[in-house]
Formats: sequence, C-alpha cells, structure tokens
Amino acid sequence: METLLPIHSPLFLPVDGLDDQPAWDMLFGNGNPLVLEIGCGIGDFAVTMAGRHPDWNYLALDFYNKGCLKTCRRAERLGVANLRVVRDEARAFITRCLPLASLQAVFINCPDPWPKRRQRKRRLVNEEFVRTLSAYLRPRGDLYFSTDFADYGREVAAFMPRQRDFENQLAPDLWRHDLPEYPRSKYMLKFMAEGQDIYFVHYRRTAQPAGEGIP
Ligand SMILES: C[S@@+](CC[C@H](N)C(=O)[O-])C[C@H]1O[C@@H](n2cnc3c(N)ncnc32)[C@H](O)[C@@H]1O
Repeated sequence: METLLPIHSPLFLPVDGLDDQPAWDMLFGNGNPLVLEIGCGIGDFAVTMAGRHPDWNYLALDFYNKGCLKTCRRAERLGVANLRVVRDEARAFITRCLPLASLQAVFINCPDPWPKRRQRKRRLVNEEFVRTLSAYLRPRGDLYFSTDFADYGREVAAFMPRQRDFENQLAPDLWRHDLPEYPRSKYMLKFMAEGQDIYFVHYRRTAQPAGEGIP
C-alpha cells in the first residue's frame, strides 16, 4: 500500500475534516465563486489558473497524494492564496461537499484515458458524469475538457451536443487542437512534445437552473 506523504499546508483541506457541504465561504475567507479542477496532478495548471483569477475560489482535487503535496508547495511558492487542495475521489467529493449550482467553472485536463476497449467504462468523463456536473455548475458556468488521447476526445466531443443544458463554445467545431489562452498542464506539454494533438472541448451551462428545459 502507498505510504501517504503528510501534507502540512494551510492550503490543504484534509477530506476527513471536511463536513458534508462545508462552509466554503469560511474556508476561503470570502464569498467568491467556486471553481473545480478534477485531477489536478502536480498543480501546474491549477496554480496558473488560480493566479490569473484572484476573484475565484479554486478547488484543486486529486486522489494522488504526492500531486496534492506538489500542488500545495507550488501555490505557496508562488503566493497563490485563492486555491485549496483536496485529496478525494471526484464523484464522492462533488456529491458530498458541493452545493448544487455552485461552480463557476470545471476543468478536467488529460484524465486517465483507459485506452483498452474493455477499460473504457472506467473513464471519468462520460454522459452520466456530465449530467452530474451540469447540476453542480451555475447557470452560464463553463466546462472545459482536454485530452491527449484522440479516441477519448472524439468520444466526449460526440456526446456533448446531446446534452441539452450545455452550449458549445467552440462552434462550429466540436473540438479544437489549440485554445490560445489555456494554460498547458504537465501531461499536455509531455504529449505535445511527442507531437501529439491535444483535444480541447469547451461547453457552457445554459442559463436555466438544473433540470429546466431538459426533456
Ligand atoms: C493523467 S493525470 C493528468 C494530471 C493533470 N491534469 C495534467 O494534465 O497534467 C490524471 C490525474 O487525475 C487523477 N484522477 C483520476 N481519476 C480521478 C478521480 N476519479 N478523482 C480524483 N482524481 C482523479 C489522477 O490521480 C491523476 O493525477
């Protein structure tokens, strides 16, 4: 079993100490909108994005202990204070700890691709998960997905137009291989260096509250 590295950082929120539906305003010290990154890895993207948006309360989530530690260290080193790191499984964390219609944005970068056909059902991002995210996004909240794995990118790009409560922000394209202002994560840079295309998908939650307008 993996030995957990202790994380002693004021930015780290041990999940055992988090109430169901914690008072996020208290934990961040303000009432700014919450933004969630799922699978933040070593936190390079999270720290860049949170640093660019001091008016966001940025939750960097991963169940990778060492990644959480590195994310905290990076944020502390760069003085990024509007970020908190949680080590937990995404679905468990979202449903237990986040209020419905609370997220200004969700970022998911290079999630594990589970490339073999028989493993694909393990992929985090599928229609069911997007329906869950829809309920936790605010009206007009953004959903960004990127992957280095063409099959995963095309799969997500193919089912997103069926989500009636999301609008494609890259139309008429279903995906792009470049989003100029979007920070590059560790995995993106690794695969770009190998000459692979990144698939970027960007949708926005419609203005209706969750459930309305959905047949
Ligand atoms: C391939 S890495 C990508 C890391 C980073 N986003 C990047 O682009 O460099 C995928 C990350 O997602 C995390 N992860 C995968 N499934 C997860 C889940 N269900 N809940 C939380 N983290 C998850 C893994 O621990 C890993 O750190």
